[in-house]
Parts: sequence; C-alpha cells; structure tokens
Amino acid sequence: AERSVQVKLVLLGEAAVGKSSVVLRFVSNEFQANKEPTIGAAFLTQKCRLEDRVLRYEIWDTAGQERFHSLAPMYYRNAQAAVVVYDVTKASSLEKAKTWVKELQRQANPNIVIALAGNKVDLVQPSSSSPASPSPEGEEEADDATATPGEGAAAEPESLRQVPREEAEAYAQEAGLLFFETSAKTGEGIVEIFTEIAKKIPIE
Ligand code: GTP
Ligand code: MG
Repeated sequence: AERSVQVKLVLLGEAAVGKSSVVLRFVSNEFQANKEPTIGAAFLTQKCRLEDRVLRYEIWDTAGQERFHSLAPMYYRNAQAAVVVYDVTKASSLEKAKTWVKELQRQANPNIVIALAGNKVDLVQPSSSSPASPSPEGEEEADDATATPGEGAAAEPESLRQVPREEAEAYAQEAGLLFFETSAKTGEGIVEIFTEIAKKIPIE
C-alpha cells in the first residue's frame, strides 16, 4: 500500500509579499491579481506525490500585517515545515523574512524544514524568458517584433529588482534553508518548493 503522511506547513512573511497567492497557485493552480489581505490565517490542504510516497500538506497561510504577528506561534507550533516568503522587488521584505527565520529557529520544532521563497520574480524578468504558458501579450509582441528592438523591454523590469538572487541565496545557505525564486503569477518555482520540502520530511 502507498504511504501517506500528513505534514503541517506554515507560511510566514511580510504583508503583501504573496503568501496567499503562492498557496492558491499550489492548491488550485490559479492567480488573482487583486488578492485581499489575509485576516488571522487561512487553512488549506493539498497532496504532494513523490516517487515512493504521498504527503498531504496541511497548510496554515498566516496574515502578514503586523497586528497579527502575535498569532504566529499558534500556527508554527508543531509545524514540520515552513515557507518564509519575501518579495524580490522589496528589500525590506527580506529583512522581515530573516526575523521570521530567527524566530522559527528559536521557537519552532528544532527539526523544522524551512524554505525561503523570493516571490514576484515575474516582475524582474523579461516576459520572453518566462517559462509560463504564453499570454495574450505574447502574441502582440510577436507582431511588434519587426518594429521594436528587444533590449529596451528587458531593461525596465530588471530595475524593479531590489534583492539580488545571489545575496538571498547566500543568506539561505548560511542559515540552512532551502531557497527558491518564485512567481505565483506565472507558477515558476511553486511546485518545486513543496516537492523539495517533501523530500526532506523524514519517512515515519
Ligand atoms: P497578507 O495576507 O496581507 O500577509 O498578504 P500575502 O502575503 O498573502 O499577499 P497576497 O498573496 O495577498 O498578494 C499581495 C498582492 O501581490 C496581490 O495583489 C497579488 O495579486 C500580488 N502578487 C502575489 N504574488 C505575485 C507574483 O508572483 N507576481 C506578481 N506580479 N504579483 C503577485
Ligand atoms: Mg495572505
């Protein structure tokens, strides 16, 4: 028979970095452009299939607004995994992520598997390099291609990046975290977070 274990996972991070959007992409493969802030926390579940077993994630999506900070221990208590999210276009959100990692490393289960996710990477990439399904704009760009030089399009979005990938990756390595850059909008890196965490959860 197939093994199936339940894994309690918590998402933490500054308000509006995209925690709920990451979960919505993982659970429903959807994206909402104007997602409302989470109040308190939301609970969702999703299965994750590995070669040798199936995990059932029980996901606590916490609210990032500061007034909810004191609720967080209720959600990370007994959690086997955490995804700490920041926004690659907002440097302060990485600093907030680091404080969450410290809190988890002091107060949560000592064996907790923590992943750091730099979200909204679609905002700092030229759309042509995005691996997502082609968008309607893609067709327009194809029409314009003969008239418009390519370099201009890439230069402007790149300036939105406030957190270099190398900086966050070096921090994650030093702190012992899994690391991903993600986009809840395109889906880039989302399944990977949950699959790589699953591989690190010990078989009971
Ligand atoms: P709180 O619940 O208040 O803590 O916020 P949150 O971290 O859950 O953020 P949420 O998922 O609500 O997303 C905030 C805004 O960012 C929404 O308007 C989303 O549509 C947008 N957003 C989330 N992820 C992405 C992404 O990967 N790319 C882009 N371009 N926008 C995103
Ligand atoms: Mg939310």
